[in-house]
Amino acid sequence: MSAASYSRAQKALHWAIALLVGLQYLAFDEIGRAFGMGMRSGEFTVTGGVRAHVVTGIAILVLMLWRIGLRLTRGAPPPPADEPPLAQRAAVAVHWAFYGLLVALPVSGLLAWFLPSGPLGGLHDLGRMLLMWLVLLHVGAVLVHQIWWRTGLIRRMT
Ligand code: HEM
Ligand code: HEM
Repeated sequence: MSAASYSRAQKALHWAIALLVGLQYLAFDEIGRAFGMGMRSGEFTVTGGVRAHVVTGIAILVLMLWRIGLRLTRGAPPPPADEPPLAQRAAVAVHWAFYGLLVALPVSGLLAWFLPSGPLGGLHDLGRMLLMWLVLLHVGAVLVHQIWWRTGLIRRMT
């Protein structure tokens, strides 16, 4: 579905989720150590850092479900006119991969922690690495748009 532009809610959700995802990696990562120790000893220590990771992860899941709802009902603006077709297809793939991963990550994290399950922890770990690469690719693509192609892409999300 196609819209003239992203709505205010879509834009607000994009930046709020980007911020919360950043916090999961940079500030609320203590859960990795707590989980590793818990799997070895059977004692899962719930510190403030662990709680922050779980609460923020659940917040991301709720905001993502809202965002996916908006994406399916309202759609997104068509790609910039001069964007090469291959880049258009790559953007669609990366955007839907974000939507899938940002639901799969909190769900796998919750199951890994509360069951608890080592293999699901491994899946969560794989997901967070994939997400990091996708974010780098996404931000790189936005920079290419801004600097080389001068499409002013960033204005679509601000
Ligand atoms: C989109 C949301 C989430 C993101 C981006 C995310 C990201 C991360 C990251 C970056 C780590 C690695 C921490 C380290 O450096 O050691 C991690 C580990 C972990 N997270 Fe999440 N997380 C999310 C949601 C959740 C939720 C809701 C839970 C629920 C309890 C959770 C449970 C865990 C567990 C158990 C680990 C340790 C996994 C292991 O070491 O195998 N995560 N997460
Ligand atoms: C500094 C960091 C970021 C910048 C500058 C940025 C910029 C943008 C821009 C300009 C768009 C619109 C693209 C278009 O209209 O074709 C966009 C879309 C999108 N971004 Fe980001 N972004 C950033 C971080 C993130 C992060 C961290 C995530 C995921 C956690 C993310 C997920 C998405 C998704 C899923 C879309 C597609 C929206 C849709 O069409 O439904 N972005 N971003």
